[in-house]
Amino acid sequence: MLSKKIVDRINLQINREMYSANLYMAMSARQSETGYLGIANWLMVQYHEEMFHAMKFFNYLIDQSASPVVAKIDAPEITTAEVKKTFEHVLEHEKFVTGSIRELLELAIAEKDYATENLVRWYINEQVEEEKNATEILQNLELLGDNKQALFMINIELGKRVVTIPVDFTNLPPAVTP
Ligand code: FEO
Repeated sequence: MLSKKIVDRINLQINREMYSANLYMAMSARQSETGYLGIANWLMVQYHEEMFHAMKFFNYLIDQSASPVVAKIDAPEITTAEVKKTFEHVLEHEKFVTGSIRELLELAIAEKDYATENLVRWYINEQVEEEKNATEILQNLELLGDNKQALFMINIELGKRVVTIPVDFTNLPPAVTP
């Protein structure tokens, strides 16, 4: 059985993952408006990844006979459609999420909650990937130069990204794994 502290903290994390999903959906809309449909595609795939992160925690609470809370999600703040600034924002946001996941892991360890610890370690690894993806895109922008030709190439490249995680969360078995 999970402690109230752990359940509340996982529910906060569900909210943060859903905020992340909305943030990337909003960024995707801005990129579509400016014609960068490949970049918009990458960001929408990221939306699905974030929903998967939220649902993995959601299903864990159900499996542990605890109550997931679907709370109000803050509106994402998008201040730019500029591609480099958008990916700087993605990286900055992922660093925030990494910090949040680390906090949750530290709580699970402090409480000797080994089941939650095991689950959260999956997210620790996932965050390495999340930060790496954003960093690589920023490195490519640096290498190619932040000009229209480079952006056109990056747009084509990011348009190839496909969803590799489950996007239908109905009737999933308890152990949801990517
Ligand atoms: Fe769910 Fe992008 O971290």
